[in-house]
Amino acid sequence: MIEILGPDKLARARDAGALVADILQNLKTRSGVGTSLLDIDRWAKTMIVGAGAQSCYVDYEPSFGRGPFGHYICTSVNDAVLHGLPYDYTLADGDLLSLDLAVSTGGVAADSAISFIVGDSKPPESVAMISATERALAAGIAAAGPGARIGDISHAIGSVLSEAGYQINTEFGGHGIGSTMHQDPHVANTGRPGRGYKLRPGLLLALEPWVMADTPELVTDADGWTLRSATGCRTAHSEHTIAITDDGAEILTLPTHAHL
Ligand code: MF3
Ligand code: CO
Repeated sequence: MIEILGPDKLARARDAGALVADILQNLKTRSGVGTSLLDIDRWAKTMIVGAGAQSCYVDYEPSFGRGPFGHYICTSVNDAVLHGLPYDYTLADGDLLSLDLAVSTGGVAADSAISFIVGDSKPPESVAMISATERALAAGIAAAGPGARIGDISHAIGSVLSEAGYQINTEFGGHGIGSTMHQDPHVANTGRPGRGYKLRPGLLLALEPWVMADTPELVTDADGWTLRSATGCRTAHSEHTIAITDDGAEILTLPTHAHL
């Protein structure tokens, strides 16, 4: 099902988006050398519950994971790229950390992910990967507007990633979002312009380019959730939730500092 949101639900999506973005920025600031992934999960829980929002993850039991996720945020380090299940790992200088968070407020969800390097060292390969996913995300957003098609977004994202030298995995990508976190349409991270569903005002999409340094292949960790690069190479991921408007796209997951 593809959901088109009216003004009331769109207002709730804006609230959810601002909250997600503010929590992610807060967690980025607090995450340093010596922080445990379980600290980050606990901080996320405190902020979600404190804001009166609902976690989209804690009870989530999709076909691609093992049982309910049981945590409040995905924490993916280095070769882990998606659905990183928090565990008692202590962050070290130079770790590439991706945080992916989705919450609902008033029954409407927003989903966003950021990647950053922990500590003071800035490995150039990691900086380049993060930049590629951020530029691909910006290109996808620029291609999204009423009348454009899903394939235009996918093509814009995929062009940036492949020009940056990455092979693209098509098993996981962006998605519609609204009353639930994962909805149609699927937004692959590569595709053909002019193809697919035509965008309409009120459609919410989560766009999420992600890359792995030297492979398009994923392996699932023994925890049943965390997806890692098959070669053990580094990875990065960036995600925003956007709303299609009458004249373009509005990013809902920009930090506002209003919620914390
Ligand atoms: N928010 C993730 C996405 O970007 C989904 C995480 S599902 C979880 O689509 F269960 F792993 F949390
Ligand atoms: Co998502």
